[in-house]
Amino acid sequence: MARILVTNSEGTPGVGETATMLAAGAGGLDAIEAGIRLVEADTSIRTVGKGGWPNLLGEVELDAAIIDGNTFRSGAVGALKGYLHPISVARAVLERLPHEMLVGEGAARFAGEIGAERANNLIPDSERVWRQWFEENVSPADQEKWPDVPLAQLCQQAIDPEKGMDTTVFLSLDGKGEIMAGVSTSGWAWKYPGRLGDSPIIGAGCYADTKYGAAACTGAGEMAIRAGTSRAIVLYMKMGLSLERAVDEAIDDLLRLRGGLIQRITLHSIDRDGRHRVVAVNAQDQLSYWLWREGDGEPHAEPVELVAL
Ligand code: GLY
Repeated sequence: MARILVTNSEGTPGVGETATMLAAGAGGLDAIEAGIRLVEADTSIRTVGKGGWPNLLGEVELDAAIIDGNTFRSGAVGALKGYLHPISVARAVLERLPHEMLVGEGAARFAGEIGAERANNLIPDSERVWRQWFEENVSPADQEKWPDVPLAQLCQQAIDPEKGMDTTVFLSLDGKGEIMAGVSTSGWAWKYPGRLGDSPIIGAGCYADTKYGAAACTGAGEMAIRAGTSRAIVLYMKMGLSLERAVDEAIDDLLRLRGGLIQRITLHSIDRDGRHRVVAVNAQDQLSYWLWREGDGEPHAEPVELVAL
């Protein structure tokens, strides 16, 4: 079984570590968690972990999930504040709780209980950009009353693509032939407080099944939630479609969405034979991803396939 790792360009700080661990025989969950931790701690990655853009209130809320494709046990956290490594808190949900997902105060409580590393994830540059947005977009009257003001109208600015809308996604087929997936994100800049994207929603932001393959999404999480995209790709493979065709079907599902938020979404997928496909729908620019295959040596960047509307 040829080992394989697919991660997106946000995975740059962690791809080498995950590939090295997989090459040395580590299991996928350990290798993915280690790689994502490096991304979460790297403040140059502005859509994941420390350095991620804040919500409308200027608070960084983090989402992450990890799934074991053998057992379908998953762990996810949503809107977690004040901790450096949501992926490790998600892993602890998987390993220590009878639940699959914790959000908000409960997730933070659990993170404290397991001794997770605390952090102020709002770096000075994010605070500066948020404050500038606040001063330019919130009326003087509302600034006086802040934060006790309606946020729904301001939330429209959460769709500004300049402010980041990405995630890091890691998919692996390890030396035991087991398939795992993990994802982590700060979600959309200026999102409504408490907004969860696709990343913590198992089946939307990621899914893995050792018998068939794995998938994960970046970009407009609202779309992946509506179409159940990651689970759909794996299920289409289970129903007998090739990886190529399974992704085509998932794209077709996305193209049928009407109303709501329609923006760029990128689908990452692998199958149990070591094939992979990474496709972006509605992309304005060329994107790249990282690929590592056993025997490759170092991971290398590849261009994302673009699907034109
Ligand atoms: N895909 C990340 C998000 O929508 O939060």
